[in-house]
Order: sequence, then structure tokens, then C-alpha cells
Amino acid sequence: MKISVIVPTYNERENLEELFERIDRALRGYDYEIVVVDDDSPDGTWKFATGLSDRYPVKVIRRTREKGLSSAVIRGFREAEGDVFVVMDADLQHPPEVIPELLRAIEGGADIAVASRYVPGGGVKNWYWYRRLISRGAIMIGRLALPKIRNVRDPVSGFFALRREVVENVDLNPVGFKILLEILIKGNYGKVAEVPFTFGLRKAGESKLGTGTIFNYLRHIYRLMRWEGEMDRLIKFTLVGLSGVLVNEGFLWLFVSTFGWDKVLANVPATELAILNNFIWNDLWTFRDLKRKPFWSRIASFHVAALTGAIFQWIVYVALMFLGIHYLIANLLGIVVSFVVRFLFNRHVTWG
Ligand code: GDD
Ligand code: MN
Repeated sequence: MKISVIVPTYNERENLEELFERIDRALRGYDYEIVVVDDDSPDGTWKFATGLSDRYPVKVIRRTREKGLSSAVIRGFREAEGDVFVVMDADLQHPPEVIPELLRAIEGGADIAVASRYVPGGGVKNWYWYRRLISRGAIMIGRLALPKIRNVRDPVSGFFALRREVVENVDLNPVGFKILLEILIKGNYGKVAEVPFTFGLRKAGESKLGTGTIFNYLRHIYRLMRWEGEMDRLIKFTLVGLSGVLVNEGFLWLFVSTFGWDKVLANVPATELAILNNFIWNDLWTFRDLKRKPFWSRIASFHVAALTGAIFQWIVYVALMFLGIHYLIANLLGIVVSFVVRFLFNRHVTWG
């Protein structure tokens, strides 16, 4: 089994010597190569890396026309000769000593092994609470929006190993820079393992990722949701919800004007009929490929979702009014929150 360690670089000259030395020590006994993909760094990283190739098995790719972290990694996949690829940063925030643990997970049957900050034993060094919060929040959004990866605790890690087959002949989009996310959605794999590690401090130089990161990430998630068909589900779920409004209004009118029922009481069966209408259409259409749970469990869970959504709607309504926001706007935001809560509940639980 040959290992290819793929290292995208941009102005990382200061870090390379220690990086190669530690990789070499960690991979003693393995047949390996290091593939450096450098975007013509002004500090001459590519040149320096080439200079080290008489001491270490390094292959340097100097790109002059393309740019970007993800496309560099994808280029690395194309150039790599190994059976297993390891992707890691050059700045030593990813300790090379973790590589053998990733490889053991692969040898143990995993197709992808993620070096994870968010499994027990993992962590980050010297991050303020708000950076942790943003990181955690971003990951939670990703896992909720893309149910396929909901069991992966750190799907945006830049440190991971995978079997060559996972990405071979897979058309990866280099636009988003969370390449692992892209692989977890589009790759060919069965089992994912996570190995804890501590995301360290940058040894030298500075981070290239920063401005626009969150916006880019959300766009990436949106694109992957479309690719996964989750966006179609969201649209179907919305249309079904609108049909429910018609059913609700129609029956309310029927009960009140034709049967002469009390307006307050008539609202209860009208609402229940709308819920049943929505359940049936979502079961037959929106989530038709996801009927893993028994019918009665699905229909009960759908009701719990409706109730949970209603509670959220009410809380948002009251809270925003308390903050002095106009009651109609507060109500509208409550409806939006309720919609999101119901969609996610149904997607992950009812048809989960
Ligand atoms: N070839 C190339 N081209 N390499 C790049 C580019 C580029 O445009 N931009 C960054 N790199 C290289 C850097 O030289 C470094 O080796 C690695 O990619 C990571 O870049 P950093 O700038 O150090 O990223 P970071 O520390 O902010 O983010 C890291 O951690 C995140 C998790 O919090 C990365 O690993 C992310 O992928 C990861 O999500
Ligand atoms: Mn870094």
C-alpha cells in the first residue's frame, strides 16, 4: 500500500522543512510520497520544496494559471500515485503524527478517515469562544442541511485520508474550499471513521482563509443541497404546505357556513384535516423514497413536528414583540422559523 500525502501550499516556505521531517518520521516503514501543490508562491515555496526533494520523496507541482485550495487538492489527487491519499495543511496545524492513526482506520476498513476536532479527545488550541461557536454553528448547519453527512462530526476538516477509489472518476467542484464536504457528498465510499486530533497553532506565516469564508461556505452548502436533491424536497414541502392552507380554509368554510359549526371549534378539525393532507402528500411525493419507518410512526412523528413548529412560531412571535418588533413582522418571522423547524424535523426524524 502506497501513501500519497497531498499538501496544498501558498507561501509556506518557513514550514516545509519541519513538516517534511515530521511526516518522514511518522511514516517510517510506509512506502510514501509527498505531493506539494503550490500556486506559484511569491516566497518561492515551490523552489524550496524542490530543493528538499533529495532528502525526502517529494513531488512538486507549481501551478501558474490556477489558484485555490480545493482545486490544488484535486490536482494533487490527479498527480498522486498512491493507493491511499492523505490531505493536510502545510502550516503544522495538522500534526503529522496523526497520519498513522488515519492509516490504521483505513486499514481497519474505513474508506475515509477524518482527523476530527469534534470527537472526544479532539479539540482546538487557543480559539476564542466566539470562533468555536462560529465553527460549531457552521458545521451544525451543514449537517442539518445535508442529511447524508449528519453523522460526521467534523465534515470541514482539512486533514483526512481516503482510498483512491473514493475520488477516482468523481467530478469534484473546486469552487467551495471545504473539499472534504464535497468528497463526503459526491465520493464513492461506505464507511467513514473519525480520529481525534488537536488543531494546533500555525507555525509560521499567516492564514489565507478569512474574508468571505462564511458566505462561501453557505453557497457551497446550497450547491450541494441542490446536487443531493434536498432543494427539490424543500420546494415540494413548501408546495404541500400551501395546499394545506387551502384545505384548512376550505374545510373551515364548509364547517361554519354549511354545517353551522362554532367558528372556534371548527378550526380544530379543519387544522387536523390540513395536517393529514400535508402528511399524505409529503409521504407520497416529497419524501417518497425515505419511508423507512412504519406508517403509524411517520404519521405520529408528523404531528409532533407540526406541534413543535407551532410552539416555535409562538415563541418567536412573543419574543420579537417583546423586543419591540411590529406584530405582523414578528408573526411572519415566526412562520418562517416554524417552517424550517418542521422541514428539518420531518426530514431527519419522520422520514429520517
Ligand atoms: N495551493 C494553494 N492555493 N494552497 C492554499 C491556498 C491556495 O489558494 N490557500 C491556502 N492554501 C494552503 C495553505 O498554504 C495551507 O497549507 C493550507 O492550504 C490551509 O490554509 P490556511 O490558510 O492555513 O487555512 P486555515 O488554517 O485558515 O484553515 C484550515 O482549517 C480549517 C478548519 O478550521 C484549513 O485546513 C481548512 O480546510 C479547514 O476547514
Ligand atoms: Mn492554517
